[in-house]
Amino acid sequence: APIAGVLGWPIAHSRSPRLHGHWLSKYGIAGHYIPVPVMPEHLADVLRVMPRMGFVGANVTIPHKESVLALADVVTDRAALIGAANTLIFRPDGKIHADNTDGYGFIANIRQNAPDWHADQGPAAVIGAGGAARAVVASLLESGVTELRICNRTRIRAEQIRSEFGAKVIVYDWAQAGNMLEGAATVVNATSMGMEGKPPLRVPMEALAPGTLVTDLVYTPLMTAFLEEAKARGCQIVDGLGMLLHQAAPGFERWFGHRPEVDDELRAIVL
Ligand code: ATR
Repeated sequence: APIAGVLGWPIAHSRSPRLHGHWLSKYGIAGHYIPVPVMPEHLADVLRVMPRMGFVGANVTIPHKESVLALADVVTDRAALIGAANTLIFRPDGKIHADNTDGYGFIANIRQNAPDWHADQGPAAVIGAGGAARAVVASLLESGVTELRICNRTRIRAEQIRSEFGAKVIVYDWAQAGNMLEGAATVVNATSMGMEGKPPLRVPMEALAPGTLVTDLVYTPLMTAFLEEAKARGCQIVDGLGMLLHQAAPGFERWFGHRPEVDDELRAIVL
């Protein structure tokens, strides 16, 4: 039976085994998906032997998402642009193929929960400029956003994104985050603020128009203070759990040959 897994350090808290395990049993597939703790200095060795152990692929998570690019034989354009991979395929010829499905998961989550949303409805505003934000920026631009505003506490990381992703990206100062929301059709919290144990994201939201699509990548808790306030202002809100679920689907399909569904049953199981 084919085996896939998730490589990280630490890995005990990953929700991916539960997610893929649910799909395997739901579709009656004889396969396995296991958490694999891998220290950074062992990543290259582990990747070399996994195909010989029966692994058909793997997800990679913190701290390996960037370093795995140098170890893969083939890197997709979007993984290279984002600078990180989360999905590996071990091909029959022994080559390791690295892709990034985070941006796909981000867009698929919005499309499932806000079917009327279109990327070209107006400017998008992204708060944050870390690894997750890079995937969001790539997918929004690929979806047809014509103006992408971004701000980050550490401004230089936002400037770096502008220099790599081009002139549709406009950098705002962190102190101007509230102004960035004026006229925006899509607003994303791509920082880790609002996550359990971290301070909430505080951005002046007066400029936010009712009906704006507001989404958060955080899913613990599902309802962040940021989403609560957007909801109170009449915005359409989408939580971050769906991104986690949808980013897993392309890997599952390639490893196990079945396109899995993302539904409320899965949400309840993974939470
Ligand atoms: P990830 O891969 O999840 O995006 P990351 O690359 O560490 O993780 O990025 C975390 C993001 O949250 C960054 O945009 C970070 O801002 P900095 O680049 O200035 O570090 C943002 N972030 C985390 N804690 C923050 C805080 N207390 N205030 C403002 N921004 C914060």
